[in-house]
Amino acid sequence: MYFDPKDGMRPPPFTHSVYNALVIPRPIGWISTISQDGVINLAPFSFFNALCGDPPCVMYCPNGYKTGTTEPKDSLTNVRLTGEFVFNMCTADLLEPMNATSAHVPASVDEMAAAGLDAVACEKVKPPRVGNSPIALECKVLHIIDMPASRTGVPNTTVIGQVVGIHIDDAVIVDGKVDAARMRPLARLGYLDYATITPESIFTLPRPD
Ligand SMILES: Cc1cc2nc3c(=O)[nH]c(=O)nc-3n(C[C@H](O)[C@H](O)[C@H](O)COP(=O)(O)O)c2cc1C
Repeated sequence: MYFDPKDGMRPPPFTHSVYNALVIPRPIGWISTISQDGVINLAPFSFFNALCGDPPCVMYCPNGYKTGTTEPKDSLTNVRLTGEFVFNMCTADLLEPMNATSAHVPASVDEMAAAGLDAVACEKVKPPRVGNSPIALECKVLHIIDMPASRTGVPNTTVIGQVVGIHIDDAVIVDGKVDAARMRPLARLGYLDYATITPESIFTLPRPD
């Protein structure tokens, strides 16, 4: 089938908006920021990815509003004011707290503490990292880009940051490499579905040149 997205994302026979099931699997950027008052914020973003490796840059997309309001998400408000964020890898072990941190709560709530996670100070940025996560990337904002708004006028935004510090749990370094099977990173599929990396799902393919 073919359809034009300007007519919406649920053409027959789809019973749910289909777009999020079309670009899969997506990594989950579990993004920590801090308010100017020092309140820690943490939220998952599957519109997230690495953009380049040298220098390392990543992006995440805090789209839309906090539920029931026309206020931007705290992950956008904070980064606009401070210019700093941290990517934390979300792993299978962290599924429940990751999901908990997607709830819309007042900006005054420390979402890392509320989810029972360990806030660990970073080296070069003010937001703490999630100590329970095996990977954290300290980031400074390069660009905040206004993307086209939704068909109902809801804003979409992309935040691009340069990685200025990298934390890797020694326990996931094996034979000089980072071991994905030990980390079991989570990936987002469409609808409410997720996938994770297991040893059986990993294979190696040399490049032709
Ligand atoms: C796995 C997962 C992925 C998500 N990805 C996004 C995303 O890419 N962009 C977005 O705006 N919201 C996304 N959300 C919803 C946000 O996490 C949610 O709106 C969160 O409350 C924002 O929090 P904040 O106001 O503290 O920034 C996602 C939620 C989950 C559970």
